[in-house]
Amino acid sequence: MVIDRRRYARVVVLTGAGVSAASGLRTYRGPGGVWEEHDVERLGHVSALTERPADVWRLFGGLRQSVLAARPNPAHDALARWQAELAQGQELLLVTQNVDGLHQMAGSRNVCEIHGNVLHSRCGSPDCTLAQFRDEDPHTSAVPSCPLCRTAVRPDVVLFGEELPALPSWTAKRALRDCDLFLAIGTSGSVAPASSYVRGAEYAGARTVYINLEPMKDPNPAFQEVYIGRAEELLPQLLGM
Ligand code: APR
Repeated sequence: MVIDRRRYARVVVLTGAGVSAASGLRTYRGPGGVWEEHDVERLGHVSALTERPADVWRLFGGLRQSVLAARPNPAHDALARWQAELAQGQELLLVTQNVDGLHQMAGSRNVCEIHGNVLHSRCGSPDCTLAQFRDEDPHTSAVPSCPLCRTAVRPDVVLFGEELPALPSWTAKRALRDCDLFLAIGTSGSVAPASSYVRGAEYAGARTVYINLEPMKDPNPAFQEVYIGRAEELLPQLLGM
């Protein structure tokens, strides 16, 4: 056991697409990554919502279908168990870049979805009062429109060029300020602001650990420890589960 869970009072865990790879979901970068096949500038940027909404739905509608068929894997289960076994006075905030809801399906609570959730949709107009809603329809045949204002409805995920949702972002930053253990798992660490969370944790004096299938392309010196391997195998081992 490399990480003795009993020793840490305020833990922040950041997860990325690599944590859901064993659940059959594609990562974004690296072999077979979504952005290896699709042009991130054309489809991953907020401008695509108005310039080519049908293409956006073809991509995220397809992702939505994959997510609906996916189930948590041992990496999700290990984090949910860690939370369930926290002692009085211990906290663990799970900050995820994933939009698949698999942490919650594994039983995790206190999940901060900083990039949204692909199983939710909302109106594309920031002025519309339509509330975000659960939506399992992939909308791959027609772009849905808002029942209130007729604007195109969009998947409730954060696209490049957009701000993170305020509450999850604020919650994550607040927890980083006094955390004593920070883990980043299954992320390339290439997308801001999540890529800089480790620096906040290190500044707070936390132990900082990176767990990933491959080393970071530009290693971040704020990580004191790096463990290379599959999260679904390595995480239970490192946590002594
Ligand atoms: N276990 C651990 N790590 C894995 C596994 C696995 N089984 N399989 C793949 N990985 C690693 C890859 O080596 C890669 O470094 O997971 C990482 C996934 O990196 P990305 O695909 O870049 O995903 P992520 O870091 O979550 O992307 C951040 O970018 O496109 C945007 O909004 C999107 O949330 C996403 C953000």
